[in-house]
Amino acid sequence: MRDSHGRLITDLRVSITDRCNYKCVYCRTGQHGAQYAELSAADYLRSIQIFLSLGIEKVRLTGGEPLLRRDLPQMVASIRAMRTRSGASPEVAVTTNGHLLEGLAEPLKKAGLSRVTISMDAVDPATFERITRIPGSFENVVRGIEAAQHAGLDPVKINCVLLRGFNDEQVEAFADFARARSVVVRFIEFMPLEEDRLWTPQMVVPLTEIVERIGRVHRLVPLSATVAGETARRYGFADGASGEIGIIAPVTQAFCGACSRVRLTSDGKIRTCLFSHREHDLAEMARKGASDDELRAFILGVIQTKEARHHIGEPGFLKPSRSMVHIGG
Ligand code: 5AD
Repeated sequence: MRDSHGRLITDLRVSITDRCNYKCVYCRTGQHGAQYAELSAADYLRSIQIFLSLGIEKVRLTGGEPLLRRDLPQMVASIRAMRTRSGASPEVAVTTNGHLLEGLAEPLKKAGLSRVTISMDAVDPATFERITRIPGSFENVVRGIEAAQHAGLDPVKINCVLLRGFNDEQVEAFADFARARSVVVRFIEFMPLEEDRLWTPQMVVPLTEIVERIGRVHRLVPLSATVAGETARRYGFADGASGEIGIIAPVTQAFCGACSRVRLTSDGKIRTCLFSHREHDLAEMARKGASDDELRAFILGVIQTKEARHHIGEPGFLKPSRSMVHIGG
């Protein structure tokens, strides 16, 4: 499946709920009244199967918080039992806040989960809980990370969104955390995808600053990209310590030219870019009785409308109609 800019689309991200048990300051307003929408597992699975038949090789289940769905292990097992176009079992990964991972790491591994990414925005408990706005959340997430490692979901990746003035002083401590815990810590530049209007260019902590600051405490060595369409700049530690640092810089060093992704929102709409202004209602077509072939033709048409790139930071930039918690990370 190629888009009109020649990019091969191999990566599907499916938001399987837009509920979340956290209220992170850079994502949600913390107010009630949101409209939640999720589909049955069978509906997501049918769409995933169709996407796989078109050339998707990796599926990431996200949200909202995907571990809030009790049928998650079953969904992972069902996807692993599907086949890609080359006849392989698809890779299945999950992005989670880690709050419920302690009890679910083992069942997810048994179900065939390939990898887990845990969002964690501070290694200092007080700072962490100022961001999530959930008391006690830090301990839960640390236990979740340990459970994932114990279950063999290695290497565990940690996503950290740095916000100037909230948690940017955590950079060096995160590098120590990566070394001490043998995890991959990936800093993600803050993008304008929050429910509140918080984003300013000044709040973004750029890649160059992160590399420079960590470099002052631990000498870093660049690592090569492991997969095509790799979004992270990767660094190891020169002294051979375990752990790894990655930096994902969608704002200061956009990687749209190598984008291999397509997203399905929790209510079954296709998004060709995080910053799209249009969604394409696959679930609605399915509800009206479309055949697999009709859905395939629809998807192929939608992929042709994939945007060349995002326009963050440019004059006239318009935030997308929906925020991260609804789109899926
Ligand atoms: N900018 C950058 N990253 C974000 N995430 C959520 N909102 C934003 C944002 N506005 C991160 C989450 C999660 C991943 C899927 O995206 O922390 O780890």
